[in-house]
Amino acid sequence: MAGTDDSIDVSEIGELTPPERTLMGPGPSDVNPRVLRAMSTPLVGHLDPSFVEIMDEVQELLRYTFRTDNRWTIPVSGTGSAAMEAAIGNVVEPGDTMLVPTNGYFGSRMASMARRAGGEVAEVDAPWGEPLDPDDVNDALAEHQPDVFGFVHAETSTGVLQPDVPELTAAAHDHDALVIADTVTSLGGVELRVDEWGIDVAYSGPQKCLSCPPGASPLTLSDDAMEKVLSRDEDPRSWYLDLSLLEGYWGDERAYHHTAPVTNVYAIREALRLVAEEGIEERWARHERVAGALKAGVEAMGLEMNASDEYWLPSLNAVRVPDGIDDGDVCSALLERYDLEIASGLGDLDGEIFRIGCMGHSAQPGNVIFVVTALGDVLESMGADVDPGAGVTATRRALRE
Ligand SMILES: Cc1ncc(COP(=O)(O)O)c(C=O)c1O
Repeated sequence: MAGTDDSIDVSEIGELTPPERTLMGPGPSDVNPRVLRAMSTPLVGHLDPSFVEIMDEVQELLRYTFRTDNRWTIPVSGTGSAAMEAAIGNVVEPGDTMLVPTNGYFGSRMASMARRAGGEVAEVDAPWGEPLDPDDVNDALAEHQPDVFGFVHAETSTGVLQPDVPELTAAAHDHDALVIADTVTSLGGVELRVDEWGIDVAYSGPQKCLSCPPGASPLTLSDDAMEKVLSRDEDPRSWYLDLSLLEGYWGDERAYHHTAPVTNVYAIREALRLVAEEGIEERWARHERVAGALKAGVEAMGLEMNASDEYWLPSLNAVRVPDGIDDGDVCSALLERYDLEIASGLGDLDGEIFRIGCMGHSAQPGNVIFVVTALGDVLESMGADVDPGAGVTATRRALRE
């Protein structure tokens, strides 16, 4: 115990040597060495002319990745929840109503943030494991007349991809509601077209399909959304995430607001450069192909996906835990025996699913063969009714197609 003692035995703390894991959970995903190298380059000041140029480049690359021309496109300092709170905390004003989904863990987080912003919350229901039905959204819009409608494009807690996005945004706009999309697990991994699909505000995280360490999180707002933000009667409750103030730093002025996380901005710049080099559509196709091989393998082994094929989310594969098996024991065994990270379920699906990510730099053929092999081995050793060999064969064959 050092505490207020005037000596500390630093040899007991030792050099930092984290284990080398393969990250196939819900994020973070493995980081490309180029991103890690960018993070070890020298710091410059957050107002240095060279950094201002880097800021411009990051904004341009973010627009490309979000598929938007939005001027208001920035990396928010903090994790995905910071970008989420910047979106909700600025767009939702006291007394506004925000319509949120109930079909996953992150819809509830949207609701909490909307309430903290002083808003009222209305809900549109769908079971965990299913997407929102456009008819239900329409009915809820008509009933509650919300100012803002939020939905989760890629629900990390259920492995469900929300289809019909243009239909949902058109319905919301018919009712004069702005649309906020959670794209934390979709940006850079599955098809997302912010402008074409009529999304007013989208936020994301860097540590999923962008394969970048957490710390600077993408956010984009349309002119309409920003007009609402800039004409608020009351300041947003967070000073740090007040977009009208952040505009001074990320807009034309480039004036100090807070010290940008310089190294994280370097990291996201390199991660986004990798996206642009690969090509966004090619990247979506890679996720679908590689995760498709993973899905083929777990199904051939005898396991069941949580989401139906229509709503399958390539970046997050939710797989039902077989009868008699403890999900936590499986995750621990994979970590201990194989240095492989996958995750258990969250919220309503706690104990019922494994969450296997296939994101960014982790979405590689070798990794999915590895996951299917290791998972089959661990489940078989625990007495589950699985056929590991059939799983690996199906994955291999799917990768050859
Ligand atoms: C869909 C979704 N939204 C929001 C978040 C919050 O992001 P963070 O944990 O980076 O704050 C996550 C994180 O897993 C997520 O999956």
